[in-house]
Amino acid sequence: MKKKLIAGNWKMNGNLAANQALLEGVLSGLPESACHVAVCVPSAYLAQVQGMLAGKGIDLGSQDVSAHEQGAYTGEVSAAMLKDFGVRYAIVGHSERRQYHGETDALVATKAQRALSAGITPIVCVGETLAQREAGQTEDVVKRQLAAVIHTNGHCISEIVVAYEPVWAIGTGKTASPEQAQAVHAVLRAQLKAASDHAERIHILYGGSMNAANAAELLAQTDIDGGLIGGAALKSADFLTIIGAASR
Ligand code: 13P
Repeated sequence: MKKKLIAGNWKMNGNLAANQALLEGVLSGLPESACHVAVCVPSAYLAQVQGMLAGKGIDLGSQDVSAHEQGAYTGEVSAAMLKDFGVRYAIVGHSERRQYHGETDALVATKAQRALSAGITPIVCVGETLAQREAGQTEDVVKRQLAAVIHTNGHCISEIVVAYEPVWAIGTGKTASPEQAQAVHAVLRAQLKAASDHAERIHILYGGSMNAANAAELLAQTDIDGGLIGGAALKSADFLTIIGAASR
C-alpha cells in the first residue's frame, strides 16, 4: 500500500511568530515513520517555512500558482518562483479560488500544467456545492472539473494529486461521511484509470472538516489516500493526530 499524504492548507492565516510555534509543535511530535506530510502556506511565508523545514521530513507547498510563466502579471507568483523556495506541492483550483476569484476549469488545468512543468506536484481540488449535491450532480461536477485537468495534462496525469473537497464540508464542521467520500473517490479513481495506466499511484485526498476525531475513519476507506486539512492544520496537536492516523 502506498504511504498516505497529509497536507495542511493554512489558507490566509498565520504570522511569523504563530507559524514558528505551530511548526515547532508539529516537528516535535512527528512520528518516525510518518506518512508524507506537507504544509501549504501563504506565499509571504514561504522563505520562513522553507528555512524551518529544511531536512525535517515535511514538504513545503503553496496555495496557488500563476497560470503565466512570467511577465506583467502584478501580484502573481510563478511556478519557477515557487520552485526557488523548494516548493514541492501547489494547490490549484481550491473552491475558494473558484468561488472568490472566478477560476474556471480551464484556468485550473493551465495552472496544473505550469506546476508540472516546473517539477511541482499540483494538488488539484474538485468538489460540488450543496445545491449541486442536492440536485444529484455531484458525479458530473467532479468529473467535469477533473476532465479539464486530464485533457491538458494527460501525458503526465499520474504525477498529480487530486483532492476531493465538497464545498459544503469546507470550514463548516460538516464532514462527508466515509461512505459519501469513498463513493466520490471511487468515481475519480475510475476516471484517472481510464486516463492512465498508473492511476493506482495517484493520491486522492479528502478535504472538508477532516479533524482529529474523524480522520481515522475517513482514511480507512479504500480510495482515500490522505487528507487536505484546513482548520485542524492550524493546531499542532490536531494535525499530529491526523498524521498519526495516516501513518498506521
Ligand atoms: P477545513 O478543514 O477547514 O474544512 O478546510 C478544508 C480545506 O478547504 C482544505 O483545503
